[in-house]
Amino acid sequence: MLSKQKIKELKKDNNGVFKQLVFENKRNNAYLLNILENLGQLPKDFDGSWLPDLLESKNKQIRFWTVKNLGKLNNGNYLNTLKNVAINDIDTTVRREAVSSIGRMRNPNTKKVLLEILKDNDPKIVSQAIRGLLIFKSDNEVYEQLKSLINHPNEMVRTVIYKEFFAEQSIKSKTNQPHTESYDYLKNVVVNGDTIEVMKLLKDESVHLTFTSPPYYNARDYSIYPSYKDYLGFLAEVFKEVYRITKEGRFFILNTSPIIIPRISRQHSSKRYPIPFDIHPFLVEMGWEFIDDIVWMKPEASVKNRVGGFQQHRKPLGYKPNTITEYLMVYRKSTEKLLDWNIRQYDWKTVKESKVKDGFETTNVWKIDPCFDKIHSAVFPVELCKRVIKYYSFMGDLVFDPFSGSGTVGKTAKSLDRYFFLTEKDDNYFNYMKSKKSNEMFDKRPTKFLSLTEFQQTIK
Ligand SMILES: C[S@@+](CC[C@H](N)C(=O)[O-])C[C@H]1O[C@@H](n2cnc3c(N)ncnc32)[C@H](O)[C@@H]1O
Repeated sequence: MLSKQKIKELKKDNNGVFKQLVFENKRNNAYLLNILENLGQLPKDFDGSWLPDLLESKNKQIRFWTVKNLGKLNNGNYLNTLKNVAINDIDTTVRREAVSSIGRMRNPNTKKVLLEILKDNDPKIVSQAIRGLLIFKSDNEVYEQLKSLINHPNEMVRTVIYKEFFAEQSIKSKTNQPHTESYDYLKNVVVNGDTIEVMKLLKDESVHLTFTSPPYYNARDYSIYPSYKDYLGFLAEVFKEVYRITKEGRFFILNTSPIIIPRISRQHSSKRYPIPFDIHPFLVEMGWEFIDDIVWMKPEASVKNRVGGFQQHRKPLGYKPNTITEYLMVYRKSTEKLLDWNIRQYDWKTVKESKVKDGFETTNVWKIDPCFDKIHSAVFPVELCKRVIKYYSFMGDLVFDPFSGSGTVGKTAKSLDRYFFLTEKDDNYFNYMKSKKSNEMFDKRPTKFLSLTEFQQTIK
């Protein structure tokens, strides 16, 4: 086996020596790979005429590295060879590398080949060809062909094209407010009213983060919907408004779990509704980009015992585990901008002070005890709110909870130097939040508790 040093030397005084060595060792894959992987940068006058033969190898690693080295030669004479690999090789990685090599040539002769590759049915190959073609964006034919891919069946391809050709026009003029700021009339305000009606009064891109737990269909007393379909429709309407009022590229964390509606008699069975899974398609459809699923895990002793019956009879099919989890589905408002863009909007002091300290949760399973409240039957534990707010917002941001209940999101946001905006329809819960006011330190910006009409007036 040749050492790296030896390969380096042979590469410099190039007189066909590799050709000879490769020929002598043509059945020794390890030997060939060692050369191919260690060739590094190639001198301008490097004789690569021995490389194309290796594309016949059955070993895909050898073909991959051969393509990579052919690419480094940046020699238009190999364009057809690379095209052939890009279209016909049986391995996607090898094909992709061939398209990438063609793209790296940055040679106008490659345009025709890359345009042909756009018709490939592997989206990864198409994306690679797009990358190579983008440098020729000013060429009319390339421009038109790329732009037409906005109707491509693959979503990744469409996203790239959207970002390159359509994004700028579409995001302009939504708001004049700087990304890090929020309107004073929303800061530390609780509105007693239907969240949709309240949100309709808000400007586009008003809030930085939304964390909420909606009503559990008809599983609790405060929520009565004519049907599950109506319920999902209602949630979809709420989250569409949340989408509109969320700032570009910011997050929405939705806490839900499958619920159970008990059976009406022993002759009937109970029904389970998988809310997180049913609402998800609506969210994606309206533009929310799915980011993560976090599981909130509670101690078994804290949840209703469902497994008791099975414990006794042990008959298959009758198994009903104790459900100790809920979901926190994390979504981001779609944008062509990277997260870095969002972060860069803040000054260094805010970024520094908002940094999450050691001891943060490293997995997507959050073990947190539930919280019980004498007035509200479904309150968030403060620890859950703390994590969401610390991980998904900066100090000074505006955090929104459309279904605020007892106001845990608001209280926690305040304690973490964020502002909050809450809506709650139920008078009792609204008054409950109001009654707790004196217990909290609403010093700098006292909380305002407003009716819908009062709130409307503050906006004017
Ligand atoms: C699951 S609870 C939220 C509890 C809250 N996370 C807490 O920590 O206290 C859902 C709340 O949404 C409220 N709600 C239901 N429909 C509403 C609507 N259309 N507008 C505003 N609030 C609503 C209910 O009254 C209930 O208090």
